Amino acid sequence: MSESSASINESSANEPPLANREQWSSRLVFILAATGSAVGLGNIWKFPYITGENGGGAFVLIYLLCIASIGIPIMMAEIMLGRRGRQDPVTTMKKLAKESGHSRAWGLLGWMGVIAGFLILSYYSVIAGWAMAYVPRMATGLFNGLEADGVNTVFSDLVSNPEGLIAWHTLFLFMTMAVVARGVRGGLEKAVTFLMPLLFILLVILIFYAMGTGHFKQGLTYLFTPDFSKITTEGILSAMGHAFFTLSLGMGAIMVYGSYLPSNTSIAKATFAVAFMDTLVALMAGMIIFPIVFANTLEPSAGPGLIFKTLPLAFGHMDYGTFFGTLFFILLVFAAWTSSISLIEPAITWGMKTFQISRLKTSFISGVLVWFLGLLTVFSFNLTSDFTITSTISTNYGEFVILKDATVFDFLDYLTSNIMLPLGGLMIAIYAGWLMKKKYSREELNINRFWYTIWLFLVRFIAPTMVIIVFLNAMGVVAFIRTIMGV
Ligand code: TRP
Repeated sequence: MSESSASINESSANEPPLANREQWSSRLVFILAATGSAVGLGNIWKFPYITGENGGGAFVLIYLLCIASIGIPIMMAEIMLGRRGRQDPVTTMKKLAKESGHSRAWGLLGWMGVIAGFLILSYYSVIAGWAMAYVPRMATGLFNGLEADGVNTVFSDLVSNPEGLIAWHTLFLFMTMAVVARGVRGGLEKAVTFLMPLLFILLVILIFYAMGTGHFKQGLTYLFTPDFSKITTEGILSAMGHAFFTLSLGMGAIMVYGSYLPSNTSIAKATFAVAFMDTLVALMAGMIIFPIVFANTLEPSAGPGLIFKTLPLAFGHMDYGTFFGTLFFILLVFAAWTSSISLIEPAITWGMKTFQISRLKTSFISGVLVWFLGLLTVFSFNLTSDFTITSTISTNYGEFVILKDATVFDFLDYLTSNIMLPLGGLMIAIYAGWLMKKKYSREELNINRFWYTIWLFLVRFIAPTMVIIVFLNAMGVVAFIRTIMGV
């Protein structure tokens, strides 16, 4: 069966896909692609710094619980919807809603995903551009022997120069669109089969390097010994929010990847593999970064600057730091690259279908759009850095600050990560758990009764409840709407 469908797909590769949609050539490729999407700036840049801000072990434990109880069931649901629909997220949701006798308004879920993808990619590309900018800086030994002031200056020189940021943003976006334009087999597959193994090799090399710092054990203790006195409500909330972001859930990226998945592949097994590898990479990043931080008596709680400021400082004082520092930033760019293609793929499939234009044209148009949107992020670090918004909500329990002095970039990050992704994930859980006919979800998941019952319980009750908690607390719906409406 898979053979005949493969040849049909091969011959229709250049036409807008309707009936004969492209497919991954194997389950392994799907796992690599989904892992490539999951592993990105979220794992290597964000996970270590939010772990550092939240005191280490206890935060890590809560994050792991969230991956297991929200991340895995929602990921299964999202892949399942994608494979059953076999279309772009908008059409998929309309089609499935029709199949189970529900409103076509579910297409809005796909729409929100397409928009979220544009918005996230617009800033993701700029931050990935920072990582790219650090490659030549590390490689030429710019950080050698520099102290904190010097390293901070390098960073602020970079972000205060709009032309430079635009140049890196343009390059990264071009790389992303070049892969996407080549299609599922010619572009996405080739990129991930080459990049993912390389990424693992680089991580392993860097772990050996971290072992040599003499503070490896201290790093492990920090990551894996829970101290619950360090946990705050915000910490729990950000652990939950990050579980979403890191697994690429809630916006249709994994749905579209699922739509290319051959029918005979086990969704449950693939999901476990992806979630496992994503978590492994995040923990490995922590095991690389924290020993280096401790070996140089730096602060784990340095915030978003952790890798862009403290790591070059550390590398600049170590033997072979130039070489390993360069490797580290190359690794970060690769990780971001395989993620960014998944951020725009839903929009590409939707654009091709809706406007009946080629993948190349759709990629070009999307790239131009994202490029312009990205300027908002570029300028929020320099020209418009003074333009900020603050949003608070007062309740009977006191005043809650939702956004404080947020730049346009902070706002975009907030809007997407804290609002759009949880909302998308919640809707996916509700649709898959409550509205889709059980007959269909059982058929698609194809797991035994025992595991199906567990999945259904998680996706019906646990995941939505937890997401609603994140959602309400972390975003303050009311305050947000008030800010937007200016009342
Ligand atoms: N998961 C990626 C990371 O950790 C980012 C990402 C890629 C993403 N595709 C996504 C996040 C879709 C949310 C939705 O860096």
